[in-house]
Amino acid sequence: MQTNSWVPFFPEQASTFAWQVDALYFYLILVSVAFSIPIVAAIFYFGIRYREKEKYATPEEMHGSIVLETVWSIIPFVISMTIFLGGAIVFYNQYRLPEDGMEVYVVGKQWMWKIQHQGGQREINELHVPVDTNVKLTMTTEDVIHDFSVPAFRTKTDVVPGRYTYLWFNATKPGKYHLFCAEYCGLNHSGMGGYVYVMEKDDFAAWQSGNVSGQTPVEQGRDLFENKLGCASCHAGGPQQRGAKLEGIFGHEVKLVGGQTVAADEAYIRESILNPGAKIVEGYQPIMPTFKGQVTEEQLLALVSYIKSLSGVAGTTTSSTGSGAGGATGANSSNPVTATNSTAVPTANRGQANRQGSNPNAPAGAPSGGNSNR
Ligand code: CUA
Repeated sequence: MQTNSWVPFFPEQASTFAWQVDALYFYLILVSVAFSIPIVAAIFYFGIRYREKEKYATPEEMHGSIVLETVWSIIPFVISMTIFLGGAIVFYNQYRLPEDGMEVYVVGKQWMWKIQHQGGQREINELHVPVDTNVKLTMTTEDVIHDFSVPAFRTKTDVVPGRYTYLWFNATKPGKYHLFCAEYCGLNHSGMGGYVYVMEKDDFAAWQSGNVSGQTPVEQGRDLFENKLGCASCHAGGPQQRGAKLEGIFGHEVKLVGGQTVAADEAYIRESILNPGAKIVEGYQPIMPTFKGQVTEEQLLALVSYIKSLSGVAGTTTSSTGSGAGGATGANSSNPVTATNSTAVPTANRGQANRQGSNPNAPAGAPSGGNSNR
């Protein structure tokens, strides 16, 4: 384990906010020490200085001191405000997702981490990322609560059943860093770990191209949508469209029956698949059956990914809400590595020709045949 941190016994600082977390932590220690030592010293000093010299002596009374009271109010106030501000700044940097970034899906499971990249690469208990790049993890779990924790990055986030949580980091040094599950999750909790490999951008690009196996999340999602789950029979557009329109909704407000609106984010799409009756889109009937129990968390992420791609969003973050459906947005453009990758992902018409052939599981007369618009 690397320990060339400027602090002994500490893991390496390998993300952009690692030093901030350490700085705040040492400030807290400094404040604690700066109070503890004088208080303990005063206990001993007063204990000796004012020890009982004669029985039942009447001490001299003291009737307040404005200066003393002001000083002992103001100093702790200032100190506690610096702690609050420091904590708020670190929290803001750590848990507010960046606009751009390479998106990776993480599914926790007793007792392993399943990871999928937007280019289709899958990993177990390993995560390869490029250096100096914002990486955003969209995480969920198949069973109990886990917690994705990388001490060298000084960040962690709970992974919670039934919802998506997010974690981001920007690794500053190539290397191999321990990954832990930091929430007790049963018998093999302690073994639920692995490594994050931070690679130079060129090395990462080589790793990526050498590891393309299987479908990308968007391709997998399209396959489920059009063939395996048959979503396309209602949602494919055209005269037979009975299900809500999905193109272009991601990142926008959707009008619901009853006049409310909801932001179409990952959580909304997930809920609409598992519990379609929860939010009925204006102009449609509540006729969709639930898919609860029929899709795994990984398939749900693939479906979310595909529906995002219908709005031109792929491999980007949810927080790019404002800019919305701008094609395969510029979100990846700052990063040549993922930029090349993203060309393989979002184009909605890609694979039209070979699709029927590539899915032996496609039911006969699958509805995708007539849908030239997708
Ligand atoms: Cu998963 Cu502890």
